[in-house]
Amino acid sequence: MALLFISGQDRVDEWQDHLKGEIPDLDLRMLPDYGNKEDIEYALVWQPPKGLLRSLPNLKVIFSLGAGIDHLASDTELPENVPIVRMVDPSLTSGMTEYVVMSVLNHHKSMRLYREQQTRKEWTPHVPPVTWDRRVGIMGMGVLGSDAAGKLSSLGFDVAGWSRTHRERPGIKTYAGTEQLDNFLSETEILVCLLPLTDETTDILNKDLFAKLPKGASVINAARGGHLVEEDLITALNSDHLSEATLDVFKSEPLDQDHPFWDHPKVTITPHAASFTHPSSSVRLIAEGMRRFENSEELLNVVDMKRGY
Ligand code: NAP
Ligand code: GLV
Repeated sequence: MALLFISGQDRVDEWQDHLKGEIPDLDLRMLPDYGNKEDIEYALVWQPPKGLLRSLPNLKVIFSLGAGIDHLASDTELPENVPIVRMVDPSLTSGMTEYVVMSVLNHHKSMRLYREQQTRKEWTPHVPPVTWDRRVGIMGMGVLGSDAAGKLSSLGFDVAGWSRTHRERPGIKTYAGTEQLDNFLSETEILVCLLPLTDETTDILNKDLFAKLPKGASVINAARGGHLVEEDLITALNSDHLSEATLDVFKSEPLDQDHPFWDHPKVTITPHAASFTHPSSSVRLIAEGMRRFENSEELLNVVDMKRGY
């Protein structure tokens, strides 16, 4: 079984070792010399070159190295009848929950202000509300949003979630669809974006949405840069309508050296590092997906390309 592996990162040796350890008879191929196109039956990819996957005539399944599949959906020449399985992996989920909890606590506890004060040797405490009076709103209540919501709720936060279809979650207030978005926003002090990037969610974090948040609210975007209208965020921060933003993802990555976010006093930046897919746990899921396909069993976590996620 030949699998074409295209990684966007530099942990290729680690991936190779884990893939071969989990699937001993695997014939692992990589760019640029991956041999005969006819040999390739599976692909495990992050941002593959456009048109490449369609050129593989015997491809059975495409596995996305990421939870998000926008890196594939942007390929206008994707093969039409090959299922795409996205990454749903405990290491990716727990990494994201750590990032969200850390960022929410930083906002809740005014850590950005303390870092600033420290540069001036200033001793001014800021009293946060108790967690059950702090309203955190999560846009996207899928695998990642639900896990983060549950952990934030365990810390006592007043958590709400917004999704496309209605989702019941114990202890979480849930809202669905555009008709309930305004109510969700009006009750959100710390907004976390964990939506997939689709036609409907592109540029969703914009001036109209920010205006519906209460004054002093803050924003955490750990989903995709394409969700955010960057100029609108800067305007909302500069006018003090929003108090701060933590951003992991950007319209263009790496973030341009001249980008105003770098020096903005109310913006905290991480380099698309909220969470990672760890080969030690995720190769098991890929092996299981291949086994399922070979045994004509239903594949898990297949992307609905019409819906876009
Ligand atoms: P998921 O399980 O597919 O969940 C997506 C959630 O978003 C679902 O609750 C879905 O609603 C909701 N949604 C989709 N379109 C919507 C719309 N138009 N309006 C309202 N809600 C909508 O995805 P996931 O695994 O949680 O991952 C979410 C995203 O996180 C990924 O797509 C990826 O871009 C990003 N991510 C970032 C990093 C990083 O390091 N920064 C790492 C991993 C993932 P329903 O529940 O009704 O379907
Ligand atoms: C990372 O950004 C992912 O989609 O998993």
